[in-house]
Amino acid sequence: MRFTPRVPDVTLTPLDEESLVRLLVAAVADADPLEVMPPVDGPDGWTDRRRDAFLAFHRHRTLDPATAVERTWVIDVDGAAAGAARLERHGDDVEAGIWLGRTRRGQGVGKRVMQLLLDAAKQGGAARFVASTTADNHSARSLLDGLGAAMTVNQDEVFAALPLSG
Ligand SMILES: CC(C)(COP(=O)(O)OP(=O)(O)OC[C@H]1O[C@@H](n2cnc3c(N)ncnc32)[C@H](O)[C@@H]1OP(=O)(O)O)[C@@H](O)C(=O)NCCC(=O)NCCS
Repeated sequence: MRFTPRVPDVTLTPLDEESLVRLLVAAVADADPLEVMPPVDGPDGWTDRRRDAFLAFHRHRTLDPATAVERTWVIDVDGAAAGAARLERHGDDVEAGIWLGRTRRGQGVGKRVMQLLLDAAKQGGAARFVASTTADNHSARSLLDGLGAAMTVNQDEVFAALPLSG
């Protein structure tokens, strides 16, 4: 008998106060703080200070109209928060970013999310879809390479760019 892996149901939910709380719960359960937010001083792990900083980070960058610089979505996999996706405009470029909880990686979710981000970027009218990662991040590199993006490696940094126009 052949076993066909089930493709999980992947949707993007625009970030708001309700989904931000779900996102924090997912991050605490399934990710290291350094994978999902800028460094915060103090002992390792999800301290109260880091949880507050995580909420403040997303409020500042996405939810507060006075300071927002990007659009963020909660990645829902089979109805439960599993990570976040973002698009940030820089002139004609739109920069994409994704993180998934550890237990959700390697199941095709990132690939599906990248396609959804690409669709959103096209609708936003940017000329180029860009993303960067580190040289040792093989899954992120495969993901970006799979989109047909041109990849530029500069020491530890990898920059991916895909024209959207035409
Ligand atoms: C990078 C990330 C978003 C990829 O999402 P994912 O759901 O794990 O990736 P997918 O399962 O969709 O696989 C995407 C590609 O990477 C490959 N891949 C997946 N895991 C891999 C691994 N551990 N090593 C090498 N390649 C891997 C897959 O085979 C696939 O390539 P293919 O289309 O050529 O078969 C996810 O691993 C993650 O959240 N990592 C931590 C945060 C991060 O590094 N973000 C990157 C910012 S751009």
